[in-house]
Amino acid sequence: MLSVRGLEVSYGKIRAVQGVDLEVGEGEIVALIGANGAGKSSTLRAICGIEKVAAGTVSFKGEDITNLPSHVVLGKGIAQVPEGRMIFGNLTIEENLRLGGLRRSEEKIDTAIADMVDMFPQLRDRLSERGSALSGGQAQMLALARGVIARPDLLLLDEPALGLAPKTAGEIFDIIRGLRDRGLTIALVEQNLRQALAVADRGYVVESGRIVLEGTSGDLLANDYLHEAYLGVKREEA
Ligand SMILES: Nc1ncnc2c1ncn2[C@@H]1O[C@H](COP(=O)(O)OP(=O)(O)O)[C@@H](O)[C@H]1O
Ligand SMILES: [Mg+2]
Repeated sequence: MLSVRGLEVSYGKIRAVQGVDLEVGEGEIVALIGANGAGKSSTLRAICGIEKVAAGTVSFKGEDITNLPSHVVLGKGIAQVPEGRMIFGNLTIEENLRLGGLRRSEEKIDTAIADMVDMFPQLRDRLSERGSALSGGQAQMLALARGVIARPDLLLLDEPALGLAPKTAGEIFDIIRGLRDRGLTIALVEQNLRQALAVADRGYVVESGRIVLEGTSGDLLANDYLHEAYLGVKREEA
């Protein structure tokens, strides 16, 4: 469904992404794992047209979408839930949701909002409250709902569990699995190796703007290098 080849992203002299190749197949959950500053967010932002692609190609459903503007990419079926959630605190929860559906008709948005409160019951009685009233976990649910309301085929999630308590993070990952079961394809950025591979089918490990390892979640979890580098323990002890 998504194919990224030789992707490069730079900020002035900083080469944040240096030749990333990755694939996301229909119906998969694919994780992009790496430490802070590895280039994960830059990769996602370049895919969805927010960051300029300096070299390489992004294709989606067989079509070259490299460097198309983000609203055009959204129209083709790729929605992004950004790092830090980016909820508008001074807008109501319903207004935040409507922003995600801007490309759809009013009538369809009303149906979609009804659908979203079914999926995210925590938001049901709070549609008229301001975004700033939400806890971190609720804000993440709103950010997910705002992404899904555009009816994308591919959802890009940037650190959806960042800063959340373990129980809330678990709820978010359950929702992510639920979205996949509803037919969405998902690419997920995570710093936490174990959490990412528990939900993903496959993963890519990013270091300094390059993919250093890729494989099924099972293969990656069994990888000795990952155990030492990311879990800080040898496998026998993990
Ligand atoms: N807007 C920006 N301007 C300058 N440098 C940036 C910008 N965004 C990211 N970077 C740099 O690019 C590198 C990769 O960042 P990022 O893609 O955000 O990594 P990650 O999401 O894996 O933490 C880092 O060195 C970061 O400091
Ligand atoms: Mg990031």
